Amino acid sequence: MKIGIFDSGIGGLSVLHLARKMMPHAEFVYYADEKHVPYGEKTVEAIRGFVEEILYFLIEQKVDAIVIACNTATSVANKEFREKFPVPIVGMEPAVKMAVEHQHEKGKRILVAATPVTIAGDKLHLLLERVDKNHEADLVSLPKLVRFAEKGDFETSEIDAYLQAELRRFDLAQYEAVVLGCTHFNYFKENFRRVFPVTVHFVDGNEGTIRQLMRVLGQVDAQEEEARVRKITYYFSGIPVTEAERKKVEEYLHQLDKMAEIS
Ligand code: DGL
Repeated sequence: MKIGIFDSGIGGLSVLHLARKMMPHAEFVYYADEKHVPYGEKTVEAIRGFVEEILYFLIEQKVDAIVIACNTATSVANKEFREKFPVPIVGMEPAVKMAVEHQHEKGKRILVAATPVTIAGDKLHLLLERVDKNHEADLVSLPKLVRFAEKGDFETSEIDAYLQAELRRFDLAQYEAVVLGCTHFNYFKENFRRVFPVTVHFVDGNEGTIRQLMRVLGQVDAQEEEARVRKITYYFSGIPVTEAERKKVEEYLHQLDKMAEIS
């Protein structure tokens, strides 16, 4: 079983990180569109063009299924492409439903953080109409987090200052959950934790996405299947990564190991 996973950059590694655990038998091709990141600040038409090119590329790699590990790309492109390509395509959307369903305390609020394109997109607003009946979710776009993540920059006080400035208009003591509606945001749980005066928990769509992938592939018990030697090939915008780039990817996966301990 060969799975193609793509994102505008290194955000989708958070999906790969979990997919490796949940589907230990699978082979993966990871595609980061490093030439065009960030998507969240581009036009819908431009993103559609990038996505189409990547889907063709992954089909050429003979993948059995594709995960669009990018909320932004899914928000503008998933529906039409799903019909056009010969393998199942699983997209991602901010996990607002899960945050609402697992609300710990009535009356507490949920912050949905994503890119500007995802926040402005109809898909998210239709989702909110469906699942946020009591209007408990607030939206914020945090495009600079994508840039920080792409620089491999997780620790600087600049990130906390940016979050503080962008979240100033919210009464942060009212929140109980942050929906990480952009896969790049998974790297910043510690920064969010420092900025909120209360302990918030994090909700992301990674596990739901892989479960959906396993469902479409009929792999419900994949976790129990015998583990085979795992193979992962990485491409940056269609070019196989260099040894140095592969090392960089390993560092990102290591940061994700740390983040996986924060829920
Ligand atoms: N990681 C992507 C997402 O989940 C988008 C980041 C970007 O390229 O702006 O939305």
